[in-house]
Amino acid sequence: MRDVLIAPSILASDFARLGEEVRAVDAAGADWIHLDVMDGHFVPNITFGPEVVRALRPHSAKCFDTHLMIEPVDPYLEAFAKAGADRIIVHVEASTHLDRTLQVIAALGKTAGVSLNPATPACMVAHVLDRVDLVLVMTVNPGFGGQRFIPAQLEKIRELRRMIGDRPIRIEVDGGITPETAPLVVEAGASVLVAGSAVFGAGDYAAAIAALRPVTA
Ligand code: DX5
Ligand code: ZN
Repeated sequence: MRDVLIAPSILASDFARLGEEVRAVDAAGADWIHLDVMDGHFVPNITFGPEVVRALRPHSAKCFDTHLMIEPVDPYLEAFAKAGADRIIVHVEASTHLDRTLQVIAALGKTAGVSLNPATPACMVAHVLDRVDLVLVMTVNPGFGGQRFIPAQLEKIRELRRMIGDRPIRIEVDGGITPETAPLVVEAGASVLVAGSAVFGAGDYAAAIAALRPVTA
């Protein structure tokens, strides 16, 4: 089985203690730190911008998996890159010239990911796969933590897995990931699991992260 990475989303953390929360999930075994950036326009909620990413950077050396739910996105790519984002994920629905946007991310020296809302078909990324190392499948409608997993996304994950073939591209899932839904998405082909409430809502972060990893024989 492919190795499965866990990326806790700080959206569900205590925002008054962000640095401490990032250090805590890092120490608890998080593989990546997932940063949800929302603008109140592309999604109906507002979180934080590049200055918060910059402030968090010294608190973990792990990959800052930066999920931009903002439109327009192009004017902010450089700011997030300079602030310390490692991977920059943009939504296909938020970029008119997606291919150009992905090239800009690469030119900034960052790895690029592309994300699909639940209603967006897998084929929308067919012609940009050579420009990304990750496809993020939203398993809830983006904007809020703590929503229920949308099972119809499992078929999209399977379809993407077929499209990707043996290219070095991971499928990441985001939204409603729990110890119950994690095995379903992994079986379908996901290998990075974002989890907000399932990690930060638990008392013991290490146990919560471990509970999301698939049990291997
Ligand atoms: C939703 C965000 C997610 C969110 C997931 O718009 O992109 O990363 O934090 O939260 P949970 O794991 O609580 O569904
Ligand atoms: Zn996210």
